[in-house]
Amino acid sequence: MNDRYLCALRREPVDCTPIWIMRQAGRYLPEYRATRARAGSFLALAKTPELACEVTLQPLDRFALDAAILFSDILTVPDAMGLGLYFAEGEGPKFERPLRDAASIEKLAVPDMETELGYVMDAVRLIRRELHGRVPLIGFSGSPWTLACYMIEGGGSDGFARVRALAYENPTLLHRLLATTTAAVIAYLKAQAAAGAQALQVFDTWGGLLSPRLYREFSLRYLQQIAEAVAGLEPPLILFGKGTGQFAAELAATGCAAVGLDWTTDLASARAACGDRVALQGNLDPTVLAASPEVIEREAKGVLDSFGVGSGHIFNLGHGITPDINPEHVAVLVDAVHRFSRRSGDG
Ligand code: CP3
Repeated sequence: MNDRYLCALRREPVDCTPIWIMRQAGRYLPEYRATRARAGSFLALAKTPELACEVTLQPLDRFALDAAILFSDILTVPDAMGLGLYFAEGEGPKFERPLRDAASIEKLAVPDMETELGYVMDAVRLIRRELHGRVPLIGFSGSPWTLACYMIEGGGSDGFARVRALAYENPTLLHRLLATTTAAVIAYLKAQAAAGAQALQVFDTWGGLLSPRLYREFSLRYLQQIAEAVAGLEPPLILFGKGTGQFAAELAATGCAAVGLDWTTDLASARAACGDRVALQGNLDPTVLAASPEVIEREAKGVLDSFGVGSGHIFNLGHGITPDINPEHVAVLVDAVHRFSRRSGDG
């Protein structure tokens, strides 16, 4: 019913700028914390389609958001490849079996989507059913580079020094890992599309850690392969990167529908660099949501103004919402974006 988000991705006219929020289902919502407590853990929540569906819908019941995003995690793919994902309390994601030698990289295989990742596809099908067409559903994957960061390091890290050292010392081995991971990502996105995902977003959270030469070699090249592989599918592709705004035009040239930007890039410059080849998604600094409602409204207007007039803007934060945010501030933001961007009836 509300297809503002899909229209904006196609750069078609919309009545007002659509908005969704990265990590919109998450710990800042008391109802999320309650469901997570019932599930026992984040992973149990993500692996139980009924509960994943429940938390996906929670932010939509509170706020006038224009899209739903599948509740899952980017690390489900390496988990299904046998690395053993777990969450140590207060420490973020970890792998029991990180990739520490050539042999473990060489024996990696693409997992079967309907068995090893069947719980994700079941969640997509269930969410589509429960949404009743209210808003479109976004499916997602991590980028091959960002997944490789966690697979080599074995968990989160300040600078992912291990995988960056591998890029210099044994590029052939890293390319081998990225090739297998890219095949898995493509199969994962295609399976989500077949299960009912209406848009597909790839998160390249750690692309900005690389020098420009290495970014093009180890991240952009594989994003290009993904864009080509999903080009024939119905759902549009959004390529989000953190710290990769300087590559916006190159990302646009992959053939994706939209480029997602963090708050360190000016939307006007990105738009000038990309021309009208793609829509742009972003890019409010997530810390703004901790400020007063007046500041939130002012900064939301600033982001809308920086994109300027015309279609092809999807409002979002420049990265995920943090657990400390007051949900009422999200309501202020969603309302401000719709109100300030409302086009007059005559277009
Ligand atoms: O956006 C959404 O609402 C959909 C759900 C979603 C989650 N993770 C749920 C989640 C999405 C799209 C992701 C993607 C993801 N996961 C990324 C890429 C986007 C980004 O934020 O950069 C990355 C790098 C991960 C890996 C990951 N998963 C980390 C680093 C963490 C811990 C960070 C934290 O916030 O504690 C997770 C766990 C995770 N994934 C949580 C949620 C809601 C918090 C888990 C909890 O409930 O304790």
